[in-house]
Amino acid sequence: MAKHFVITLDGPAGAGKSTVAKCLARRLDASYLDTGAMYRALTLKALRLKINLEDEKALTELAKKTVIDFKEIPDKSLHVTLDGEDVEKAIRSAEVTNNTFYAARAAGVREIMVGWQRAIAKRRSVITDGRDQGTVVFPQADYKFYLDADFDERVRRRLKDLGDAGKNVDVDQLKKDMYDRDQKDFARKVGPLKKADDAIVIDSTGLKLEETVEKVMKYIKVKS
Ligand code: DC
Repeated sequence: MAKHFVITLDGPAGAGKSTVAKCLARRLDASYLDTGAMYRALTLKALRLKINLEDEKALTELAKKTVIDFKEIPDKSLHVTLDGEDVEKAIRSAEVTNNTFYAARAAGVREIMVGWQRAIAKRRSVITDGRDQGTVVFPQADYKFYLDADFDERVRRRLKDLGDAGKNVDVDQLKKDMYDRDQKDFARKVGPLKKADDAIVIDSTGLKLEETVEKVMKYIKVKS
């Protein structure tokens, strides 16, 4: 693998992408690019400004006037910023989570996001997670992975994450929300969730985080 590289990790919500990507970034001394955070940040701004989320043109105009970036915090992880404000926590609310599909299905928004993602990857090596990273954004990536897990396991992981964050959730509601999100991700006309033909599939069902990371690392050959 070249000194400057791109590794893509696509897959459905709860497959473990972000946790694995953070680990890989540390091990390979690269940056973790959380592309979902970018769609979430734009959604947060639209909700705050009470912009009609069904209006794709309005969302695209909003994206043009918005600066979404990442800043490194002392523990070395990256926090997403919205017009300079650290919104890493605010973008994880249920309201933002359940409304992000509007920004994600808007072709104009996706075009802008893709441009930003490529610009970030020009400046540094990245482990990038999302839905369209191996198919649309980085078709020439050094390595492409498609991370998957059983639906029930993905629900259990989300429940644990939310529980760890001190949030009380209704299991049936969470299941329904995750099912709906999956359907929207797969069915979107632009940038749908899809395995790239040349992506390596990793099924993390029943695996611990370290085991999944090891499975991925086995494929990565670093030139010394
Ligand atoms: O990975 P996540 O749950 O943070 O993603 C939030 C939303 O953004 C999700 O509905 C899918 C969408 N998304 C996308 O369309 N393309 C990406 N590259 C990343 C996320």
